[in-house]
Amino acid sequence: MLRSLCLLGLAGTAWLKMLPPVRALQGDGKCGLYLCVNATVHEDMVTYEMTGLEEPLGWLALGWGTRMEGSQMIIMWPNDDGSTTLSHRRAFGHTEPLPSEYPPRHAKIAKPRVSTLWHPKAVGTLAFTIPVNKTVLSWSNPTERLIWAYSKVRPDKPPYSELTQHYSAGFLRLDLGGTMPEFVPTVQPAPHEEVTVPELSAMDGTIVTDPHEPFQRHERIIIAHGVLASFGFLVLLPAGSLVARWGRTLTPKWFSIHQTINMSIAAPLITIGWILGPIAVMDHQATHLFDAHQITGVFLLILYYLQVSLGRYIHRRRANAPPNAPKHPASNVLHVALGLFVITLAFVQTRSGMEEWKIATGRSHISHWCHDLWNIWVVVMPVAYLAGTFLLRRQFYQERYGINPGSSNYLALSPSPGNTDVVFEASDDVLPKEVESNVPLLSPHSRGS
Ligand code: HEM
Ligand SMILES: *[C@@H]1O[C@H](CO)[C@@H](O)[C@H](O)[C@H]1NC(C)=O
Ligand SMILES: *[C@@H]1O[C@H](CO)[C@@H](O)[C@H](O)[C@H]1NC(C)=O
Repeated sequence: MLRSLCLLGLAGTAWLKMLPPVRALQGDGKCGLYLCVNATVHEDMVTYEMTGLEEPLGWLALGWGTRMEGSQMIIMWPNDDGSTTLSHRRAFGHTEPLPSEYPPRHAKIAKPRVSTLWHPKAVGTLAFTIPVNKTVLSWSNPTERLIWAYSKVRPDKPPYSELTQHYSAGFLRLDLGGTMPEFVPTVQPAPHEEVTVPELSAMDGTIVTDPHEPFQRHERIIIAHGVLASFGFLVLLPAGSLVARWGRTLTPKWFSIHQTINMSIAAPLITIGWILGPIAVMDHQATHLFDAHQITGVFLLILYYLQVSLGRYIHRRRANAPPNAPKHPASNVLHVALGLFVITLAFVQTRSGMEEWKIATGRSHISHWCHDLWNIWVVVMPVAYLAGTFLLRRQFYQERYGINPGSSNYLALSPSPGNTDVVFEASDDVLPKEVESNVPLLSPHSRGS
């Protein structure tokens, strides 16, 4: 993913360099589904223009920081009498930000630089000018991290009026050292229902970041979380399950391979990958975060550990099973069902994680190949498993003829004398030789009965 993101970025820059040179301003702009934000720096001042892209335009806001709590914000809205209100606020949590009487930087309403018509979906632009944050501007990469919000409900005229919660909110970054064209072509607004912006049509409210910006620590943690968790849940667990499905009638080694993959290798990997999820959230300092992906994630890990314990329980019980123990006790059936459920849920979870990437980082969607791989995998895995159920007949057959008092229900594959392998490798349930040789599993005349 890293590589294709870089390639995308390179292609983008190469393309930009081919355009005829235009007089440039210092600043940056980003567009999302609900608004565009442009910042232009003139000496000590920055002008931020917020262009709303959806009707009705209630209020628009920008805040400095990476979460609501503690962030200084500017909230603006148009009034019915044609005037505009600007309100300095500060949020103390996930509640209405309160007016701040002495903001660290004082903003003034500004006239938008160009007509609102530069964006085909624009419904209005609200702009303000504020002294530039000199600390940010002195950085070698003066990228400012902001939050934004959009509400459909217009407050009363006074700046201290009560606000209704945002319809959508998110994060964005603006490179205050970047360059922007001075003249922006004006485009005619298209009829609203015909406008489709393909890569932004997904249901989320995040403003997109440049693909070629290097990954931040928070993003690298998310990538490691995604890679480890998907590898554990969608490669190791299905592999171990297929070994069980396909292998149990074929080789006595199936159990130790199954246990090694699904427990010894998968458990540490899944645990580390999983923990990186909450670490990324903490690193990001965004406190909200109890969304479906995170709740399902907790649930999924618990189910996985339950499944491992259940597997160990079954193994122990099988080893000490009395002569006439049922061949398919409920716990074993549950182990199969829970295993399939965990993997199915992991598929869903991986998908929602891919969507989460955009929301958590403010970048564009993750590379296409991730979705393609997921789409292929979600077909290949069930097909491979279902194909393995054709071996059930062989398995039941082995079980029926191989009942051995005081021993395992798993049976030797080869009845040849001298072969002491059993289909279930456990030190304490090796079959006596004479039982093995009584099992005509692979003899031609017994097939098909
Ligand atoms: C009446 C005003 C507001 C209320 C009641 C409110 C409430 C909330 C609530 C409940 C959440 C958590 C949502 C979740 O867990 O998914 C949230 C998140 C968020 N809000 Fe607001 N909000 C208000 C104004 C604003 C403003 C003005 C901004 C931007 C300048 C903003 C930006 C954000 C952002 C970026 C998040 C996600 C990050 C975080 O959790 O801090 N909000 N808000
Ligand atoms: C705002 O930024 C966007 C994205 O960079 C750019 O396409 C657009 O022309 C800018 N608009 C104005 C008015 O500068
Ligand atoms: C300027 O930016 C820095 C770093 O983001 C921040 O710590 C500081 O509070 C900001 N100063 C003002 C006046 O906004």
